[in-house]
Amino acid sequence: MIDQKLLKPLGSSALSDTVLENEWHPVCGSHELADKPVSVIVLEERVAVYRSSKGVHALRDLCVHRGAMLSKGWVDKNENLVCPYHGWQYNSDGKCVCIPAQGKDDRIPPRAKATKYHCQEKFGIVWVCIGEPRADLPSFEEFENPEYRPLVCGPYHVKAAGTRVIENFTDFAHLMYVHGGLLGHPDYSELPDFEVFKEPDRVYTGDVPIFQPVAHSGSDHREGTTYIYVKEVFRPLAARLSKRDQATGQTLWIMLTVLPVSEQECIVYMPVSRNYAHEVDDQQFIDFQDTVFEQDKWIIETQKPELLPLDLQAELNHKADLLSVAYRRWINQMGVRIGTT
Ligand code: FES
Ligand code: CO
Repeated sequence: MIDQKLLKPLGSSALSDTVLENEWHPVCGSHELADKPVSVIVLEERVAVYRSSKGVHALRDLCVHRGAMLSKGWVDKNENLVCPYHGWQYNSDGKCVCIPAQGKDDRIPPRAKATKYHCQEKFGIVWVCIGEPRADLPSFEEFENPEYRPLVCGPYHVKAAGTRVIENFTDFAHLMYVHGGLLGHPDYSELPDFEVFKEPDRVYTGDVPIFQPVAHSGSDHREGTTYIYVKEVFRPLAARLSKRDQATGQTLWIMLTVLPVSEQECIVYMPVSRNYAHEVDDQQFIDFQDTVFEQDKWIIETQKPELLPLDLQAELNHKADLLSVAYRRWINQMGVRIGTT
């Protein structure tokens, strides 16, 4: 549950960050949004999200009449969002089109308008931008490619800055420790040198081979598979990786995308896609990712400082951290302030 006390007072700009305000953020899974509106929080701003026959819509979750939450209302037969307090009806542009307490011929004041936010649905997720989107959603072709089987993992609630979650996703050297036995093994911790590339809109690695031994008791770990990882951060709070078995071409894609609820609280959604094991129940894949993410979360929530240090002298960087350093530099140049120090 989101702690409502965390929310900023109306009109306060304590969390102002023009970079993140102008980003698309994942707010709920498509399947979570049916006929009832849903309340979400984006950068401490309450947002009501709802579905109509025309698609998904987002309004500021605040009735301009007396400040009730529109998300506690309902969508009526005209597909307007109805405030539960006095029944004012808002259309998808946020315009109030009916005030039940007044006569049909009475004029509706032009100021009777809820703030409308940008909203779209893609990759099994509903996305909201509370500012002006400076870029389209990141592309994830493998989610829509029929050779791949898509599914969505999450939501995962994390009591930490979204930037810390993204940085953890860029990290290779933890796979053998935090995910030891699942994604690597401490006996095979040495990482090869790898390259990191920087472009104006993304930072990414070259191929990084990682040996994943087969886990069984009494094993000397020599059996296993070397997977080729490529990791990429393409938005301040969105990244993805591919994990490829070179021998078979079997590839898993994971996009990790983070909703910044407040500076030190976030929710993670993970669209995942695979070109193998289509016959295996999706729930098995989801359960596995849940376990892996739980392991990451356990570490991330203990990290200090809570906000990601952008001063590169503040922590000790190692050559295994090349992508993390590139990420810190990149969001520093971009001017991301929330979740950083
Ligand atoms: Fe919404 Fe009165 S507070 S209609
Ligand atoms: Co991890």
